[in-house]
Amino acid sequence: MNTFKAIIVKEEQDQVIYGIEEVNLDTLSTGEVLIKVAYSSVNYKDMLAVQKNGGVIRNYPMIPGIDLSGTIVHTTDTRYKEGQKVIVTGFAMGMSHTGGFAEYARVPADWIVPLPMNLSLKDAMVFGTAGFTAALSIQALEANGMKVNNNPRILVTGSTGGVGSIAVQILSKIGYKNIFALVRKKHQAEVAKSLGATNVIYASELGEQNKPLNKQNYDFVLDTVGGEIASVLIPQISYGGSMSMCGNAGGIKLVSTVLPFILRGINLLGIDSVNVPINNRGSIWEKLADEWNISQTTLINEISLDELPHTIESIKNGQHLGRTIIKY
Ligand SMILES: NC(=O)c1ccc[n+]([C@@H]2O[C@H](COP(=O)([O-])OP(=O)(O)OC[C@H]3O[C@@H](n4cnc5c(N)ncnc54)[C@H](OP(=O)(O)O)[C@@H]3O)[C@@H](O)[C@H]2O)c1
Repeated sequence: MNTFKAIIVKEEQDQVIYGIEEVNLDTLSTGEVLIKVAYSSVNYKDMLAVQKNGGVIRNYPMIPGIDLSGTIVHTTDTRYKEGQKVIVTGFAMGMSHTGGFAEYARVPADWIVPLPMNLSLKDAMVFGTAGFTAALSIQALEANGMKVNNNPRILVTGSTGGVGSIAVQILSKIGYKNIFALVRKKHQAEVAKSLGATNVIYASELGEQNKPLNKQNYDFVLDTVGGEIASVLIPQISYGGSMSMCGNAGGIKLVSTVLPFILRGINLLGIDSVNVPINNRGSIWEKLADEWNISQTTLINEISLDELPHTIESIKNGQHLGRTIIKY
């Protein structure tokens, strides 16, 4: 290959702009493994990456894209071999290291997860960082007492977004029967139910803000929104319950008192998908490939690299549903 297609984000005259360019291997960051990218996926963070002051890209020009799946075409690390199918998500990809929105990527060998046997390259990106994060959130909640047999009331916020929609589907697949989906638009209610939610709650119905303690409506909350939504929910978690927190789509400011923590013993569980140690990643991907695999029922838009700006706009405008994957 002499040249290949990549999205390049640049800073020009104080503006951040992006578009497709023909580039060569010299454009890629360094690493031991060169991958022919098969699929990437579009996440909330990728939308932020192409905004001015988005806080994701550290140096321009940059190829964005925090996720990829593909086939190794060259490796200087003997743990891997040419032709091997792999997944890479997070770390510095698409931030300070060229990412998945290109036909080729070069990454450090220590960032690579071998594709599990029961997962296709396409399905790996149906999950992508969103699915990986949903899985981390469920794992954290289960480690803190969430059990199918106890029939807990679980609320998922941002339930029709990338992380939330996969979380609702996994929870439903593994047998939870009391799944509350938080939505804020009417048309999202049917979508949430089709994903497996048993009840739908509108953000406008969440109740009073600034109440230090409120009616104990939920045993566990899987939060992807943060901000006011998370603040209103903390006082509604029942005694001994937990909230996992992975996102800031609704803002970064959390307003709380100590009372839910010291009077009800609730737990706030921070979730980070970006720097999960490589040795802990394989087991999560195996779960996604196997007992938590909902890739066949996920709401997917499959696009080409040229269609990326449209998807970025829909995420920015709150019109995006489910998962969008890029096929190369
Ligand atoms: N910690 C990590 O490692 C990690 C990993 C992945 C994602 N994240 C974060 O998790 C969040 C979700 O990511 P995603 O990829 O699922 O994004 P997404 O597909 O854009 O979904 C965001 C969801 O949040 C909802 N939402 C946004 N603002 C809201 C508000 N003010 N009130 C109620 N709902 C609101 C959206 O609803 P509408 O459709 O109505 O707008 C949508 O359902 C993002 O903040 C992302 O950065 C973090």
